[in-house]
Amino acid sequence: MPETATFPLFPHRHLLGIQHLSPSDIVSLLDRADEAVAVSRQSEKKTAALRGRTQINLFFEASTRTQSSFELAGKRLGADVMNMSVASSSVKKGETLIDTAMTLNAMRPDILIIRHAAAGAAALLAQKVGCSVVNAGDGAHEHPTQALLDALTIRRAKGDLSKLIVAICGDVLHSRVARSNILLLNALGARVRVIAPSTLLPSGIHQMSVDVFNRMEDGLKDADVVMMLRLQRERMAGAFVPSVREYFHFFGLDQAKLRLAKPDALVMHPGPMNRGVEIASEIADGPQSVIQEQVEMGVAVRMAVMQALLDPRRNEASL
Ligand code: CP
Repeated sequence: MPETATFPLFPHRHLLGIQHLSPSDIVSLLDRADEAVAVSRQSEKKTAALRGRTQINLFFEASTRTQSSFELAGKRLGADVMNMSVASSSVKKGETLIDTAMTLNAMRPDILIIRHAAAGAAALLAQKVGCSVVNAGDGAHEHPTQALLDALTIRRAKGDLSKLIVAICGDVLHSRVARSNILLLNALGARVRVIAPSTLLPSGIHQMSVDVFNRMEDGLKDADVVMMLRLQRERMAGAFVPSVREYFHFFGLDQAKLRLAKPDALVMHPGPMNRGVEIASEIADGPQSVIQEQVEMGVAVRMAVMQALLDPRRNEASL
């Protein structure tokens, strides 16, 4: 990684959501992440940028991509990384989120990465602990590093986001990924469409500066990017879709629907995927898919975020 002084001081101590970032904050994180991609592609991946710093990953919900990429990102920056195993922790004995966090805080970490089922959990923690906090997904609220890695993937493939039409398709109602992406893409000037059955759209969607479609055939037309969302059946209390088969028929991305987008449209999915539910396998593994690139960009973005938050100049400036 280049010297941190080559980037402007990031004006936030925590990353709780895209909502709190300006367009220049976002662009500076993406620029930093571009440098981190180069580091991750070298045979020697380890740097000393966060040597001596302690990172704790506190995941109250399941994760493959986010937790492992935060761990790798910390290790590539030279930090000491601890993965708190919630399944075998005192949370199982009834300890509250705040008591768990205060206990970990007493061990003087420099950064706490939290995923929790409750919207606002990361923000609550940030008020209680003395270190930086990163929101790795809080309920259906935000997943800021996912939106940043998606933006990095798009920017590296297509350039300027302000010239692009991005279609976000599927279970928008339960999706923190959709919410963070809508905020970020709007901040960078992209035209954002959401495509979903009305049962899977949040009530405030029309206030989010997006064009809303209920048919893939209408919303995919001329899209530069097709971003599929996982159908989050674990968050569904009632019958939001008649059947998985019917959902795939109307809202699953297959070859015929993808042909409606631009011929070079990118296909994205944050993972984990339900193949045959929101996306056909031939599309997920096809030539337009950048799903594996998204995973690679995840490590780079998390390196960029942690380096920006733990910038040694912040102590001097008392931000
Ligand atoms: N995209 C995402 O957050 O994946 P995980 O749940 O595997 O972390």
